[in-house]
This record gives sequence, structure tokens and C-alpha cells, in this order.
Amino acid sequence: MARSSAELDRVWLEQFPEVDILLDSATIQKRVSELAQQIARDYEGTFPLMVGVLKGSVPFLADLMRAVPFRVACDYVAISSYGTETTSSGVVRLLKDLDTEVVGRHVLVVEDILDTGLTLQYLMGLLQERRPFSLKVCALLQKPDRLKAPITLDYCGFSIPNEFVVGYGLDYAEQYRNLPFIGALRADSAED
Ligand code: PRP
Repeated sequence: MARSSAELDRVWLEQFPEVDILLDSATIQKRVSELAQQIARDYEGTFPLMVGVLKGSVPFLADLMRAVPFRVACDYVAISSYGTETTSSGVVRLLKDLDTEVVGRHVLVVEDILDTGLTLQYLMGLLQERRPFSLKVCALLQKPDRLKAPITLDYCGFSIPNEFVVGYGLDYAEQYRNLPFIGALRADSAED
């Protein structure tokens, strides 16, 4: 018999005792499905372009796009923010641009997390200059206490406290992206 998502989360946790579950995989999947329904209602009859921000948005975008039951296009950007592994310096730079023309398109940016907002401020400015028909942003997580830039999410999965989170795309030193849940990494682990 197939194991439940809660059982699978427990199996993963045994491998990663330094992580405490913040949002289990069932909770994430339920919210992703709700967001997809909202997006499907809002974009019905259009052919939106979903823009994933590498690398963290990959699991979220993969689940979200498969829950929107009509034609969508996908493309990706990569943006670097300089800083240490756990804090951003606020300087951002485009590492990989879209392959797709944006002019006249309905564009939905998909992010794993809105933290300071500096990444999205840069990206939304860049995309707006390319004259999309509409430009919105969906993030699975936001940390309201950390926001520095004037970014308002059109679709938001969860507001979370200011903890260092990993899993479901989010990393620490390129680890933990493959966890099926979102967890808080204990501070002593992040300093190792
Ligand atoms: C993370 C995250 C967002 C950004 C949010 O990306 O995926 O893109 O930081 O932070 P901000 O709101 O403070 O700008 P990161 O630069 O760690 O790259 P990654 O997605 O490849 O892990």
C-alpha cells in the first residue's frame, strides 16, 4: 500500500534531524492546489507565461503548473544575489534571461519566497520594461518581517516568521532543495 505523505515526511526527517517541519507536504500540496484554482479562474481563456526564478522555484512551479488545467507556457530566469549563504547583500544581477518574448503576454512570475523583496523588485522592473499585457507575481512563502522593497504579492501561499527555511526548492549551501516539506534549519546547523 502507498505510504501517506505524513509517513513519507517522517522518513525524510529521519535523514535530516537538524530540520524541524514548518509546513508538511500535505499542507503545501493543499495550498498549491488552492492557488492553482485561483490562478486558473483569473487566467482562463488566456495563454499565460509562467516565469520561474531559478533555482528555488522549481518544485513549486512544477506542481503549480500541473494543477492549472489549460495551456500555459513556462520559462526561467536566474538571478544572483550577492551575500553570505544565509543573508543577502541586496545587490542582484541577471544570470540567465528568458528565451521568450514578453511583450503583449500575460506574465506570472513564480517564486519560492519573498524575503527582502530585492530579487522581485529587480525582476518585476526588468519585465515591466518589456511591456507585458499583465504582470503578476505568485510566491509560495513570504516573510513580512523582512520585506524592504515595495512588493505586493498577487498570490501568496503562506506568511511565515523570520526563520531560516529549507526544503521544497529552498536550500542551504545547495542542500535540502529536495525535501518534500518546508522546514526550519536549526541555527547551530547553519553555522557548521
Ligand atoms: C532566494 C529565493 C528568491 C530570493 C528571495 O534565491 O529563491 O529568489 O532568494 O530573496 P529576496 O526577497 O531577499 O530577494 P537565491 O538567491 O537564494 O537563489 P536560489 O533560488 O538559487 O536558491
